Amino acid sequence: MRNEVLSKTVKLLLDAGKGLLAMDESINTCNKRFRDLNIPETYEYRQKYREFIVTTPGLEQYIGGAILCDETIRQDTSAGIPMAEVLIKKGIIPGIKVDNGTVPMASFPGESITEGLDGLASRFENYRQLGARFAKWRAVIRIGPGIPSAACMRFNAQLLAQYAAQCQEARMVPVVEPEVLMDGDHSLETCASVTRDLLLQVFEALYEHRVDLSGMLLKPNMILPGNNSTQLFTDEEIAGNTINCFLESVPAAVPGIVFLSGGQDAQSATARLNAINLYQAKIKPWRLSFSYSRAILQPALGIWKGEDQNIQKAQAAILHRAACNHAASTGQYHPGLEN
Ligand code: 13P
Repeated sequence: MRNEVLSKTVKLLLDAGKGLLAMDESINTCNKRFRDLNIPETYEYRQKYREFIVTTPGLEQYIGGAILCDETIRQDTSAGIPMAEVLIKKGIIPGIKVDNGTVPMASFPGESITEGLDGLASRFENYRQLGARFAKWRAVIRIGPGIPSAACMRFNAQLLAQYAAQCQEARMVPVVEPEVLMDGDHSLETCASVTRDLLLQVFEALYEHRVDLSGMLLKPNMILPGNNSTQLFTDEEIAGNTINCFLESVPAAVPGIVFLSGGQDAQSATARLNAINLYQAKIKPWRLSFSYSRAILQPALGIWKGEDQNIQKAQAAILHRAACNHAASTGQYHPGLEN
C-alpha cells in the first residue's frame, strides 16, 4: 500500500517530461538574493515573489512538483488562498524542504553537516496535512585541500538515509540531495571521484536504513569542473562523465534522477540536461530530469526587481525556462528554443 502511494507520487512528479521547481530558498537565502537586487527583505516581498511563481499561467505543463520552504507552505496568496492549494488546483504537487540547513562539523574545518532530524516525524505529519506529498533534504559536500573527509561523507549519508526512512514512513517521497559543491578550482575528475564515493555511501546508508529505492528520487550535482578551474568541456563530455559516474553508483531501482543546477547559468543547465538525455549509454535505467532553483528563477527575479508592473514579464521568464528544461528532459531542447 505504502509502496503504491510512493510510486504513484513519483510517476505524477515526473510525468510526460516534467521536472521539479525548487522554490524553497530559506528565508536567509531568499533575502540574500533580494539584497543583491535591492528588493526589500520582508515577509511581504517574499509573499509577492512566491505568489507570482505559483500563479504563473501554464506552469503545470512543465512542472510536476514544487518544493516549498516552511514559510511558504504556511503562507496565503494576497487573495487569501494557501500557496499549496494554488499548486494543487493546477495539478502541481507541493513538496517541502525539511532540513534546517547546515552547520559546521565539529573537528572538521571547512566541512558541514545538515540539521533537522529532531521532531521530524511529527513535522512530516503536519506538512502532510498542509498538502505536501514529497520532501527534500540537502547534504553539502565541499571539495578543497584535504576535504571532503570520509567522516563527513559517512555522517551526511547517514543523516540523508534516516530522513528518507522517516519520509517514507509518512507516505511521502523523499528527494535525497547529496550536493558536491561547484565552488573551487578542482578538476572534473575530482568532482567525478568525490561524487561517486559519496553516492556509494549514500546508497549503502539508504539500504541499511531500509529505504524503498523505488519510492524515492535522487537530486545530485552534474559532474563539472570547479567554477574556478580552467578546464573546459563540451556539454557532451559533461553528459558522458555524469552518466558514467551514476552507472557506477546509482542502483537501477531508483526511478528518477532530478538534477540541481548548483550555480550553472540557466542556459548551460538546460543544454547539459539535454546532452545527458541524448547521451548513448548501454543502459540508462532512470528518468533524468531537473529540480532547479536558480536556473529557473534567477532570470525572473532579475526582471521582477520587486516591482508589480514587472510581474507578467517575470512569469513569462519562469515559463520559458520551465519549457526549455521540460524539452531537455526528453532530449528535445535546442538553442533555437531560447528565442
Ligand atoms: P539550485 O538549482 O539553485 O542549485 O538549487 C537547487 C536546490 O534545491 C538546492 O537545495
